[in-house]
Amino acid sequence: MQAALKRQLLEVASQPYRAAGNFQYHWVRGKLGRDPVFASLLKQGSLLHRARVLDLGCGRGLLAAWFLAAERLSASGRWPAPFEVPKGLEFCGVDLHADAYATSNRALQSLYGRRVSLVSGDMCRTDLHGFDAITILDVLHYIGFAQQEVLLDQIRSTLGPGGLLIIRVGNGRGGLRFRFSQWVDLAVARAQGDRISTLYCRPLSEWIHALESRGFTVTAQAMSDGTPFANVLLVARVA
Ligand SMILES: C[S@@+](CC[C@H](N)C(=O)[O-])C[C@H]1O[C@@H](n2cnc3c(N)ncnc32)[C@H](O)[C@@H]1O
Repeated sequence: MQAALKRQLLEVASQPYRAAGNFQYHWVRGKLGRDPVFASLLKQGSLLHRARVLDLGCGRGLLAAWFLAAERLSASGRWPAPFEVPKGLEFCGVDLHADAYATSNRALQSLYGRRVSLVSGDMCRTDLHGFDAITILDVLHYIGFAQQEVLLDQIRSTLGPGGLLIIRVGNGRGGLRFRFSQWVDLAVARAQGDRISTLYCRPLSEWIHALESRGFTVTAQAMSDGTPFANVLLVARVA
């Protein structure tokens, strides 16, 4: 994506968070500006027009903010990129800490109405029905291995043909970069008041196996450019 377009998109995507206060606004700008996953997902065109997206562990709803900002830009004719922006997406985000992000939810809803909704909840107890795509970005490792298995089973049995599961995980064989990301994730979780001391990570081959053994077709892509982490994006589709 051209640098000028990315800057414009960053501006539009972070703008709603101004209403959520200075800290949220600058945090969001930093994350959207540095994390390659948002631009990459937009560019690869995995989400189709009018897809209903369930974002598990949505945090401040950045995925929704990014895609809906791209739609706004493209609707206003300011979209010089050679790829199409999906229109009419709807996002339901679920996060353990969504209450703490209520201001983000209000700010996004004031612009996009009910097309975005960030709700409080545990992804292991969430109704997964009625979605075309489920995203879990940097979240699966917070739940135990057995819970991961159950959640992946539930997702697989809920998604229909063509259904999409997009996850980003750390590669447990990613050496120092992987250990650093674990340290950061634990520090952030504790700062949020979560009393966790263990993260449940797997080597990349095991993550891929967990998806392929459930009948997903999987593509894997390194997704840490410009960050000190060892993250991989897995796009898994029901055949
Ligand atoms: C590293 S952040 C990622 C946030 C978001 N996916 C993003 O990319 O901006 C991890 C998020 O997962 C949430 N989380 C952890 N365990 C969860 C669970 N069992 N159910 C729902 N959310 C959870 C945390 O509250 C946190 O907001």
